[in-house]
Amino acid sequence: MPPAQHTAAPPSRAPDSGALPLLLAMLVFLVTLLVTFFAWRGASQSADARLAQSFEYRSRDMVYNISRRMAVYEQVLRGARGYLRGSVTLERGDWAEYYRVLRLDQAFPGMEALGIASMLEAKPGAMRTAITHIEPATLRNGRAFGFDMYGEPVRRAAMERARDSGGAALSGKVVLVQEGAGGAPQSGALMYLPVYRAGLPTASVEQRRAALAGWVYAPFRMNDLMRGLGGAHSTDLDIEIHDGAPQGDATLLYRSDPADGAQRNARLATRAQILPGGRTWTVAMRSSAAFEDSLDTTRPLLVALTGIGLGVLLGVVVWLLASSRRRALLLARAMTLELRQSHDQVAAERQRIQVILEHTHDAFLAVDASSRITDWNVQAARLFGWSAEEAIGRNVEDLLPPNARAAFRAGFTRLNHGDACPLLGGPTELDVIDRAGRRIPVELSGAVLPTGAGFGATIFVRDISARREALQREQQRQLRLDEARQALARGQKLEAVGKLTGGVAHDFNNILHIISANVQLMLRGDRIGDDVRKRLLNILDAVERGAKLAGQLLAFARRQPLHPSEVHVDALLARMDSLVARAAGDGVIVERSSPAAPWATLVDPNQLENVLLNLVINARDAMDGSGRVQLRLANLTVEQDPELAPGDYVTVAVSDSGQGMPPEVMERVFEPFFTTKPEGKGTGLGLSMAHGFARQSGGDIRIESVPGEGTTVTLYLPRHVAMVQQPAPA
Ligand SMILES: Nc1ncnc2c1ncn2[C@@H]1O[C@H](COP(=O)(O)OP(=O)(O)OP(=O)(O)O)[C@@H](O)[C@H]1O
Ligand SMILES: [Mg+2]
Repeated sequence: MPPAQHTAAPPSRAPDSGALPLLLAMLVFLVTLLVTFFAWRGASQSADARLAQSFEYRSRDMVYNISRRMAVYEQVLRGARGYLRGSVTLERGDWAEYYRVLRLDQAFPGMEALGIASMLEAKPGAMRTAITHIEPATLRNGRAFGFDMYGEPVRRAAMERARDSGGAALSGKVVLVQEGAGGAPQSGALMYLPVYRAGLPTASVEQRRAALAGWVYAPFRMNDLMRGLGGAHSTDLDIEIHDGAPQGDATLLYRSDPADGAQRNARLATRAQILPGGRTWTVAMRSSAAFEDSLDTTRPLLVALTGIGLGVLLGVVVWLLASSRRRALLLARAMTLELRQSHDQVAAERQRIQVILEHTHDAFLAVDASSRITDWNVQAARLFGWSAEEAIGRNVEDLLPPNARAAFRAGFTRLNHGDACPLLGGPTELDVIDRAGRRIPVELSGAVLPTGAGFGATIFVRDISARREALQREQQRQLRLDEARQALARGQKLEAVGKLTGGVAHDFNNILHIISANVQLMLRGDRIGDDVRKRLLNILDAVERGAKLAGQLLAFARRQPLHPSEVHVDALLARMDSLVARAAGDGVIVERSSPAAPWATLVDPNQLENVLLNLVINARDAMDGSGRVQLRLANLTVEQDPELAPGDYVTVAVSDSGQGMPPEVMERVFEPFFTTKPEGKGTGLGLSMAHGFARQSGGDIRIESVPGEGTTVTLYLPRHVAMVQQPAPA
C-alpha cells in the first residue's frame, strides 16, 4: 500500500479577505455612476442642443415673418400708388372703395390705416402736408385727418427719404396721432411711398423732388402688428423690437412680455437686424419661460435614475456574487481539507489494517462474490505455499480438499443469496490443502463481506496441526494415566488382598503343621486299630491339601519360600515340552519360539514351571480343546514403565486363539478365587499365584485379550547376568 502522500502538500493560499466583495461592489457602483454621469451629461447636452436648435428655428422664423409682413405692407403701398397713377386728388369715395376692395383690415392685421398725405402749396422752405385720405374712416383715424406729418421731424425724415429714393421708407418710433390723449399709447411707425406726378421724369433726386405729388402711407401700431405674427408658437419667444441699435425704452418699439421680460435671465437669446422700408430694426429674442420648460429634462433624469439604480443593483449583485464566491471558496477549502484528512485517515486506516493483517499470527484471505481470492497476507503465503501474486485471482476452492469443494460451493452460493453460510460465523475446523497437496488441519473464522456485486468473505485461517498433535498426545497421556490409575488400584487391591491372604495362609499353615505333626505321632503308636489309622491317614491327606492351598495362597501373597537359581528359560521350556503337550491336549497345537541368544533369569525354576503349566491349561480351557498355543521367549529392555524398574528382562508370552476375555473379567483375573469356570473345575488361584510369583521375582505379568480372538499372557522376568568366577591370584 502506498503511504499517504498528502501530509507534505503546502498549505493553499488563504482566500481573499472579507472586504474584497465590498470593495468590488463599490468599484462597480462607482464605475456605473461614472458611466451614468456621462450618459446623463450626453442626454442633457442633446436636450440642450435640441432646445437651442428649436430656439434658433423659432427666432429665425420670427425674423422672417416680421420682414415678410413688412415687405407685404410695402407691396400694399406700391399697389395703392399704382392705383393713384400719379395723382393724389382722387375722390374720397374711390379711396374708400379701393380700401374696401383690398379688405386691408382683415388681410393685413396691424396696418392701422391706409392713407394719402398730400402736399399743400407753401412758401419755399416751409412746405406743409396734410392727410387728405385715410381709410378706414374710423373715429380714431378721423383724428389724423388733415394732420401735417411733414411738420413732425421723425415722420418728415422718413417722408423725405421716400421722396428722394422713390422707394418705401419707414419712420422711426412715433406715437400715432390716432392714439389721441390719455390711455397707454402703443409705439408706432409709419411707412411712406412717394407718389410722383404722372409724366414727369424721376431719374434723379432733383427730378423726383420736383415731381412729388404726395405720399401713400400706412401707420402701424407695433403691438397690433406683432399680434398674431408668432402663430402657434407666439409664447416661445420674448421679443423686443428696437428702432436701430437698442438703447433702452427710447428705441423700444415692441416688447412681447413687458412685465417679466426685463428681469428674467433667459437661457437662450439672439438678436437679428432687418431692414423694413430702409430702416434698421433690431429684433432681440429670448427664450421664454414656457419655451424653456419644454426642455426635455425627463430623459436625463431617467438616465440618471436608471444609472444609479443599475449601479446599486450591479453593486449588490457583484457583492453577492463575490461574497458567495468567497463563501464557496471557503467551503471548498474546508471540504478539500476534510477530504484530505479523511483520505489520510483512510490511508492510515488501510495501513493499520495492512500491518495488522501482515503481522497477525493467522493466515488471512478475502474472497469476492465469485469466490476469487482478493487479499492474501504473508502468513497465507507461508501456510499455503502460494505467493500473493500467485494466489490473488485464484478460486478459493483450490485450497480445499476435492471432497469438500461441492459443499463449500453450495454454502457460498447460499451466502450470495443472503442466507447464512455454515463456513462463516463461529470458528470451524476443517482440512485445507497446500500447494503440495498436503492436508493441513485448520480453524477458519470468516465474516461476510458485502462487495459491489453480492457478498464475499474475509477468512482467517489458523494452522492447528500442532494443537491437534498436542491434543492427541494429551488424550494418549490421559489414557495411559487412566490405565496406570487402574493398574495402581488393581495393584493396591491385590496388595491388600495379598496381605490378608498371606497372613491367614501363614497362620493356617502353622496350624496344619501342628495337626500334621500330631497325626504323624499318633500313627506311630501301636495301639491304634486299622479303622483309626485309616481315619488318621484321611486327616493327613486333608492336611496336605490344606497345606497345598496355603502354599498357593502364600505364593499369591508373595510369601512362599522361593529358591531362585539361574534359569535359562529356553532350556526349561524345552524340558517341559512333553508336559505341556499333555496338559494342552490332543486337539491343541503348541508352538515354541525363542531368540538366538536368550538372556538368563534368576527365579525359582519349580515355581516357574508351575506358572507356565497353569497358563497353558488356561489357554486350553479358553479354546475348548482345539486351537493353537504359542510360547514365545524374548529379550526386552525396559526404559520407562510404571511397574517395572528400567533394565533388561526375559519375557515369556503364552498366546492362545481362544475366546478371549471381556474387560470386566480382565479386571479381576488376578484376584484369588476369581474364576469363571464351573464348580470343581477351577479354583481361581492360577493367575493369582502367577502374579505373586512374578512380582516376588522382581518382574511382572500382563494380559492382553480381545474377546473372540484370543489372549496373550506375558511373564516379565529380570535378566540375570552370571558373575564370572575369577580364578584366585596365585
Ligand atoms: N487363557 C485364558 N483365556 C481365557 N480366559 C482365561 C485364560 N486364563 C485365565 N482365564 C480366566 O481367568 C480365570 C482365572 O484363571 P485362574 O487360572 O486364576 O483360575 P482357574 O483357571 O479358573 O482355576 P485354577 O485355579 O484351576 O487355575 C479363569 O476362570 C478364566 O475365566
Ligand atoms: Mg487356571
